Amino acid sequence: MATNPIAAQPSPRASHGAAAALKGPPRPLLEWRDQWTLDVGFMDEDHRALAQRLNEIAREWQIVDDGLPPANQGADPLGRLMAALEGLAVHIREHFEREEEVMRTVDYPELAAHKGEHDLLLAEFRISIRSIREAGVAGLDQLTLESMKDWLMGHVLEVDRRLAEFLKNPPELAVPTFRPD
Ligand SMILES: [Fe+2]
Ligand SMILES: [Fe+2]
Repeated sequence: MATNPIAAQPSPRASHGAAAALKGPPRPLLEWRDQWTLDVGFMDEDHRALAQRLNEIAREWQIVDDGLPPANQGADPLGRLMAALEGLAVHIREHFEREEEVMRTVDYPELAAHKGEHDLLLAEFRISIRSIREAGVAGLDQLTLESMKDWLMGHVLEVDRRLAEFLKNPPELAVPTFRPD
């Protein structure tokens, strides 16, 4: 079985309780790797921004979860965490719409399956946000953060990579009007 390039990254916090005792600057949830670049300008830009937002969420969650003193966490840390999650949801939706528009433009043969995965990912993410809003910080844990990272980056590295290859090397019969850069 091929090595999972996402899971191969060490978890920033091996376990909730043990790592909470290790104060200090939190490691990012996701450190961008050059091999994740697809060489399609708008996709790479969006994916990097997505990784950044995931890191912000992990940082905000850690502040709330560790119960850092008010001087270190600013006002309403749970509100900031929710705002970061909502911001990611908007980014994901807009990014998906951009990819779908391009797929329609080039008559991409995998459009339906790709869009279906987008719809599923977005629905799952919205369910996660709702449960966090209802349960507070208890609704989010390291495992949930790791799985958010895995499903988003898993999509990028498999489904989006196929789209990027199509955009860069369109079949001769297709008449694409889209240029990657
Ligand atoms: Fe994407
Ligand atoms: Fe996609």
